[in-house]
Amino acid sequence: MTDLSKLPGVDPEVPNAARMYDYYLGGSHNFAADRAAAERVKSAMPFAVDVARANRFFMIRAVRFCVQEGIDQFLDLGSGIPTVGNVHEVALGINPQARVAYVDNEPVTVASAAALLEGEPRVTITMADIRDVDAVFAAPGVRDLLDLTRPVALLMVAVLPFIPDEDDPAGLAERYRSRLAPGSFQVLSHGSADQDSSGTAAAAEVYRRTANPVKARTRSEIAEMLRGTELVEPGLVDATEWRPEDTTGGQHRMMLAAVGRIR
Ligand SMILES: C[S@@+](CC[C@H](N)C(=O)[O-])C[C@H]1O[C@@H](n2cnc3c(N)ncnc32)[C@H](O)[C@@H]1O
Repeated sequence: MTDLSKLPGVDPEVPNAARMYDYYLGGSHNFAADRAAAERVKSAMPFAVDVARANRFFMIRAVRFCVQEGIDQFLDLGSGIPTVGNVHEVALGINPQARVAYVDNEPVTVASAAALLEGEPRVTITMADIRDVDAVFAAPGVRDLLDLTRPVALLMVAVLPFIPDEDDPAGLAERYRSRLAPGSFQVLSHGSADQDSSGTAAAAEVYRRTANPVKARTRSEIAEMLRGTELVEPGLVDATEWRPEDTTGGQHRMMLAAVGRIR
């Protein structure tokens, strides 16, 4: 097994959002600095683990919804370190013909996904910065896997908080949507700045000193990221309230989530 801390582009001393998220979800692809930073976030926001889990479970339900709507292609931006309920496992579990293109810019994420996906022709992982839309669509893992003349589910799950205002996250979402066929879906979740401002501010301060400063945003800013889509029921809601299947996860109102149909 490769020593993940020695991968090019990895500084195990600098906490990283992908590996902190892996730690919240109980994964093992994280280093001491990631765990220490994640523990500081948990002190500021004791329900940080619940939020991460609620986000992940929302994503799983949303992927299932998309497959049931006939979607068999997924573009997952900021896909994260493989963990419970990976998109391809959920999608291919229902439709073995589904295809999934993962994209992330964190080397441990890409290496662990590549190892997991070896010998899996229907699923790719591409190392790219999602702000470079042309590079994402030109990458072989995306270009050769997805047929953009047919609908795609575009996943932007807990990734746009890492895109700063100056990079215009709503405009970025728009640029992705504009490449997709009518009948595609956008799946979005984003940290909400409307609640618990002291906890979120303290957590943001921890992230400010990581490789990935994070920004929670207001409901109207998050709604802008779905501009022009037709939101499926129940609209833009707390992640725990999006078509819930059970009552686990609690309702901390820290993560807004929605699925929009692209017209
Ligand atoms: C909180 S994780 C979310 C993972 C997964 N989408 C989920 O919700 O379970 C955020 C992911 O976005 C990735 N990320 C952040 N900024 C990115 C960028 N500019 N380009 C590509 N990936 C990015 C991180 O590396 C990390 O894996």
